Amino acid sequence: MKTLSNLIENNRVWAKKIKDENPDFFSNLSQQQSPEYLWIGCSDSRVPANQIVNLPPGEVFVHRNIANVVVHTDLNCLSVIQFAVEVLNVKHIIVCGHYGCGGIHAALEKKQHGLIDNWLRHIKDVARFHADELSTLTSEEKHIRLSELNVIEQVFNVCNTTTVQNNWKRNNELSVHGWIYGIEDGILKDLNTCVSSIDLAFFMHSMMS
Ligand code: CO
Repeated sequence: MKTLSNLIENNRVWAKKIKDENPDFFSNLSQQQSPEYLWIGCSDSRVPANQIVNLPPGEVFVHRNIANVVVHTDLNCLSVIQFAVEVLNVKHIIVCGHYGCGGIHAALEKKQHGLIDNWLRHIKDVARFHADELSTLTSEEKHIRLSELNVIEQVFNVCNTTTVQNNWKRNNELSVHGWIYGIEDGILKDLNTCVSSIDLAFFMHSMMS
């Protein structure tokens, strides 16, 4: 049986390096977490939340799934959002997609992939909402644009959760951001869809539809 001893060894080196720099780092962190950010991103191994924004453990609460989708009935994602907003009091929710996303690619294909097609259905819906715009593009442009549109739609889905709506009704500070990451250059791009109030959420959604 392989024991993945190389990973355990990596961990020892990593923990020692942090403790050498800050002996109390882990003991302090074990007392509480108070991240300011909730990151909702793709499961893709090339898009690791903390590393991209260069933040240490304790700074980002993370939820990842294939193609960073926020589904209205996904108890997993909804529970993460509720805990992050109501218990951890995060001030920012970042939906981060990425170019070159296999989920987006598969959603644009005509062939079936099995179980995952039921998940990709949500991205196919995004493509259907924006069919007019997408129909004018080449297949490469379509992939790029659908990756961006998917982030924007998921931002709206976050804004429409009861958790986020109720938080805004209580006049708590909370902003929802849409970003996209380039796996070819390591650069994040803000899609300028930041929503920080119910009014803005309504306004922006009416602009999109
Ligand atoms: Co992806």
